[in-house]
Amino acid sequence: MAKYVPRVLINGYGVIGKRVADAIAKQEDLSLVGISDVVADWRVKMAQTKRMNIYASLPDRVDEMRKGGIEVSGTLEGLLKGGGVDVVIDCTPAKIGAKNKSLYEKYGVKAVFQGGEKHEVAGVSFVAQRNYEEALGRQFVRVVSCNTTAICRVVGGLHEKLGVSKVRAVIIRRAVDVWESSRVGVMNTVVPELHIPSHHGPDAQTVIPSLNIVTLAAKGSHNLYHLHMAMVEFRSTIGLGDVIDVLEKEPRVVFVNGSDGVEGLNSIFEISRDLGRPRGDLYEIPVWFDSISVSPDGREAYLIWATPNESNVIPENVDAVRAVTELEVRREDSMRKTDRSLDIVKKLY
Ligand SMILES: NC(=O)c1ccc[n+]([C@@H]2O[C@H](COP(=O)([O-])OP(=O)(O)OC[C@H]3O[C@@H](n4cnc5c(N)ncnc54)[C@H](O)[C@@H]3O)[C@@H](O)[C@H]2O)c1
Repeated sequence: MAKYVPRVLINGYGVIGKRVADAIAKQEDLSLVGISDVVADWRVKMAQTKRMNIYASLPDRVDEMRKGGIEVSGTLEGLLKGGGVDVVIDCTPAKIGAKNKSLYEKYGVKAVFQGGEKHEVAGVSFVAQRNYEEALGRQFVRVVSCNTTAICRVVGGLHEKLGVSKVRAVIIRRAVDVWESSRVGVMNTVVPELHIPSHHGPDAQTVIPSLNIVTLAAKGSHNLYHLHMAMVEFRSTIGLGDVIDVLEKEPRVVFVNGSDGVEGLNSIFEISRDLGRPRGDLYEIPVWFDSISVSPDGREAYLIWATPNESNVIPENVDAVRAVTELEVRREDSMRKTDRSLDIVKKLY
């Protein structure tokens, strides 16, 4: 019998979609059918240069995309109807995924949504190292946002291993993505999000329901990476070594040091480019080792980390496909394959 190799289509070829497409193409046990989108801009033309099959997500976009120079292979609906796809990774802008859900339901196709969709769209919110098994065999799964993924990896690890009673975290977000910094964004200011808690804390609870967390957020005037600062209270007394030990073992979390000259988000971006990965992507969460501190009574820890917003959710999307197709039933097995294919490390330098 022929080996089952799930066929994957990426719907929406933007910041996340183009990275997920490349990551899927690198997996030996998954096959990339192509991508679908609604425009013919340089980003979609880049997919054409990479010889990917391109579909029109909406039938009324076919002519416009062809006129724009895209060789459109057909419509997304036509492709799904013909049974050519097992899993769609929906990387369309926030709330479009929810609209697309009925199409996936109509053709019985599995779908992985992104963090811009509400938890209810999929019913399972996913971070591989926390709840891989919850997604096994499901039709719909949602990979949570970059911020939530980072919180679940770092604080989730501390909660699982040491027992966290309370987390309070502050997030300084990037204002806008690099590709659209010419259009929008804030400059020379910081804009607080006045709704408290920011949505990130409740979102982390969709993955780790027992986590008592409140987050506050603000937009900075930069366009790459978020900065998280967390105060973590424990159920029992812990030592600095315990926190370091957990994070040292936690997958997809790495240490960087101020004492090595890693002074800001810019230093981490430079490191990520030096690693020579595509687009300077960083899939891991860099925690400043020098920031990790414990209160004198041993009940609280404080730490600061960077969240590579464009890329930390990419491995989760790959793992989500293996979970919904039950290609791997153990998180370790999927994560090992993903990490090897993307050169994910435990030490950046
Ligand atoms: N940008 C980030 O840093 C980031 C990080 C984590 C998660 N996310 C989430 O990932 C999702 C995608 O975000 P993004 O930043 O990649 O968006 P983006 O705007 O960069 O890309 C979206 C792509 O979808 C296309 N598109 C628009 N309408 C469409 C439709 N109806 N059908 C098909 N394609 C359509 C656009 O042309 C574009 O190519 C969102 O849910 C977002 O919240 C974004």
